[in-house]
Amino acid sequence: MSSAPGYQAPTVTVSSSLPGRGVAEAVLVLPVVTGDTGPRTVGVDAVLDAEAVDAIESALSALNATGAEGQLHRLVIAGLPVASVLTVGLGDAGGEWPADTIRRAAGAAARALDKVGTVVTALSVLDLEAALEGLILGGYRFTDFRSDKTAPKDKGLTKIVALASDAKAATKAAAARAVDVASAVATARDFVNTPPSHLFPAEFAKQAKALGEAAGLEVEVLDDKALTRAGYGGIVGVGKGSSRLPRLVRLTYRGAKRGGKTVALVGKGVTFDTGGISIKPAANMHHMTSDMGGAAAVIATVVLAARQKLPIDVIATVPMAENMPSATAQRPGDVLTQYGGITVEVLNTDAEGRLILADAIVRACEDNPDYLIETSTLTGAQTVALGARTPGVMGSDEFRDRVARLSQAVGENGWAMPLPEELKDDLKSTVADLANVSSSRYAGMLVAGVYLREFVAEDVAWAHIDIAAPAYNTGGPWGYTPKGGTGVPTRTMFAVLEDIAANG
Ligand code: BES
Ligand code: MN
Ligand code: ZN
Repeated sequence: MSSAPGYQAPTVTVSSSLPGRGVAEAVLVLPVVTGDTGPRTVGVDAVLDAEAVDAIESALSALNATGAEGQLHRLVIAGLPVASVLTVGLGDAGGEWPADTIRRAAGAAARALDKVGTVVTALSVLDLEAALEGLILGGYRFTDFRSDKTAPKDKGLTKIVALASDAKAATKAAAARAVDVASAVATARDFVNTPPSHLFPAEFAKQAKALGEAAGLEVEVLDDKALTRAGYGGIVGVGKGSSRLPRLVRLTYRGAKRGGKTVALVGKGVTFDTGGISIKPAANMHHMTSDMGGAAAVIATVVLAARQKLPIDVIATVPMAENMPSATAQRPGDVLTQYGGITVEVLNTDAEGRLILADAIVRACEDNPDYLIETSTLTGAQTVALGARTPGVMGSDEFRDRVARLSQAVGENGWAMPLPEELKDDLKSTVADLANVSSSRYAGMLVAGVYLREFVAEDVAWAHIDIAAPAYNTGGPWGYTPKGGTGVPTRTMFAVLEDIAANG
């Protein structure tokens, strides 16, 4: 296995002109749109002369290119300092290029450039940050578990020269922000892609601690004994079926100035979900390696907040457990006491996420946050309701809508969903305060949200983001999204943190 674990992001430089030398091996990535008379380059006026633009546009016409969104063409153009050109279509944008169109185009380009080490791009003239995020996220690979037999011989994309109208300090800061954001998403993907053999609660906690300490965060890790002593009945109940015992990790970033807000983040960290005694069918059970996708995104986000020095406090509370069937596992019908005292009848051991999250939410609320964002691969019902790419966002009406709007803006496309009052009746238990599953088959995603709401302190604005399918792409790669871990909803949560930092 390769020595440096995880994905290494490429180095990025910003330049206001096409470098005359040093890029002989590079590919120049250029945006094209569908013009009236055929494909037309955009954003390249400052970097290419009319002759080069002519040569590119007539080559594209000869290839019957249209400039449709995502269309790629590799060209060799004489007289340029680069080895080749890759054009990427943005479609009929009418002069407006939404950030995610640029991000997806950049991602598609990066995926097409297998084995190319250096990219010079003019997509960044249109939107620097979107172009960089798309290139880095599209160039992501995960090779930690390949031996020399199948590991790629090349290093992938290692260097990006982003063309921009200037290379002033503010432009460089924007580029650095994009690299930090993409690196955070890559961190979340790495965690999700690490197999359950190698990522179990104690190991996950250790890696989260190392990342947190490197970013200057306060770190606290509770092991199974500390969890039992402090009354974390949900985390202990779910975790006790495994020989690899649970943890609770707390990562604190303090950046608030006087009057600055405090945001709590909570993420589901089930390192593998067999279902427990209520065991899942064998088909696709291996996808449950992604059941810690919420935890991965939360850890990456608090580290990113610190890197970007946001003027708010961010406190991540991350419960980690492996849900296994065994002689020590909890049984359907067991009653446990969640942290804070609410009792729960565990009617289905496969509804384990809400049990560990309820404990974590109560603990997170003890810090008196202004806002709480919780995210989890919580229900198969998310996929039924919204499909593979659309997270469901629930919670306090106003904050939920704000989170969904910002999620749309960054291209992660979370969608607001309601938490109807009457669903609470479906969680009645004959022996305890609550049952962990509904007596009805309806609205499984919303019922899980209703369960979690019982544990959120009254004065905390909260949002729950169900990422069951969006955290893990089981289909083919698209745009800047590879197969496997996607890193969703890291960019949504960071956008919310930035918005809170700016607007309270
Ligand atoms: N981790 C699963 C949810 C899930 C399903 C995530 C598919 C990703 C893809 C969760 O723990 C679970 O098993 N939920 C149950 C809840 C049910 C028992 C109420 C489900 O959705 O079936
Ligand atoms: Mn489950
Ligand atoms: Zn689960």
